[in-house]
Amino acid sequence: ERKLKVALLGCGSVGSEVARIMTTHADDLAARIGAPVELVGVAVRRTGRPRPGIPGDLLTTDATALVKRGDIDVVIEVIGGVEPARGLITTAFEHGASVVTANKALLAEDGPALYAAAEQHGADLYYEAAVAGAIPLVRPLRESLAGDRVNRVLGIVNGTTNFILDKMDTSGAGYAEALEEATALGYAEADPTADVEGFDAAAKAAILAGLAFHTRVRLDDVHREGITEVSASDMASAREMGCTVKLLAICERSADGTSVTARVHPAMIPLAHPLASVHGAYNAVFVEATAAGQLMFYGPGAGGSPTASAVLGDLVAVGRHKLNGTRGPGESAYAQLQVAPMGDA
Ligand code: HSE
Repeated sequence: ERKLKVALLGCGSVGSEVARIMTTHADDLAARIGAPVELVGVAVRRTGRPRPGIPGDLLTTDATALVKRGDIDVVIEVIGGVEPARGLITTAFEHGASVVTANKALLAEDGPALYAAAEQHGADLYYEAAVAGAIPLVRPLRESLAGDRVNRVLGIVNGTTNFILDKMDTSGAGYAEALEEATALGYAEADPTADVEGFDAAAKAAILAGLAFHTRVRLDDVHREGITEVSASDMASAREMGCTVKLLAICERSADGTSVTARVHPAMIPLAHPLASVHGAYNAVFVEATAAGQLMFYGPGAGGSPTASAVLGDLVAVGRHKLNGTRGPGESAYAQLQVAPMGDA
C-alpha cells in the first residue's frame, strides 16, 4: 500500500501539535490525501525528553540524515530561523521531498531561492502557517485572488504585540507591565525582540506583499517600527480621541501602479473600525482587490494548535500532489514593480 512518508523537523509547540493531530486525525487525513500518512522521523535538538504520542524510535538529533533518506515524500519544517532550516529545506528538495514550512524569517530573507530550489526539483513549497497562524491568507493570495488585482493588504499580523497593546488599552498598564504579562502567559518569547521591535510583522509583511503584488519583497525592504516606544499616556491620548493603538502591517501598490511599499508601525485606529475589536493574540487582515473589493481575514494568529492546523492543511495539499504526480503553484511570474523605500513618516 502506498503511504505518504513524512519527516518532521522541530518538535516545539507547533511540531508537537502537528504530530499529535497527525495521529488523532489519521483516518481523515488519509481519506483527504488518498493514502495513509506515515511519520517516519522527528528531528529534535535533544532526545531523552518524553514526547507524548511520539514513539521514541522516531526521534533523532540528526536532521540532515533524516532529510537525506531519499524516501521522504514531505518534509515539514517547524524549527524556525534561517539556519539550519534553509540548508535542510534545500537538501530535502534535492532528495525528492516537497516541503511544508512555517518559517516566515527564512521566506522573508530567501523566499526566491527556496522557490527556485523547489522548481528545479519539481517539488512543492507550501507555507500557509508562516503568516497569521490558522488564518488562510497565503493560499487566498496565491490562488483564490490570482485572477484579481490586489491593491492593498493591511492588518494586525503579530499576536504578541496585539496582546500587549490590548492589555495596555484595557487596563491602563504601561508597556513593561503588559510585556511581563504576555511573557508570563507564554505569548511573548523569553527574548521578545522579534515581536516587539516589529521584525516578525515585517517578515510577514514582506511575504504578503510578495504574494499580493507578484513581486519580490525582502525583510530589508520593509519600513519597520515596533511598539517599545508606545506609552500608557499615548494609549490614554488615543482613547481620548476615540481611538486605540495597533501595530499594523501595510502593503500597498502605488496609485500609478508602478511600485509597492511595505511598512510596519503602530497606528491610531478609530474604535468603530473592525481592527479596534481585534483583542488578545488574534490577527486580522484586510485585503483590497479591484474586482473582489474588501475582504477581511480574522482569527487566531499564533499558538501551537492554530499554526498546526495551517501546517496540516498544507500537508493535505502537498500530499495529494505527491500522490498524483502534480504540483501546486510555484512562484508568480514577476511584474516589474519597484519596491519603493519608505521615507520616515
Ligand atoms: N510571535 C508570533 C506572534 C507568532 O506573536 O504573532 C506567530 O507567528
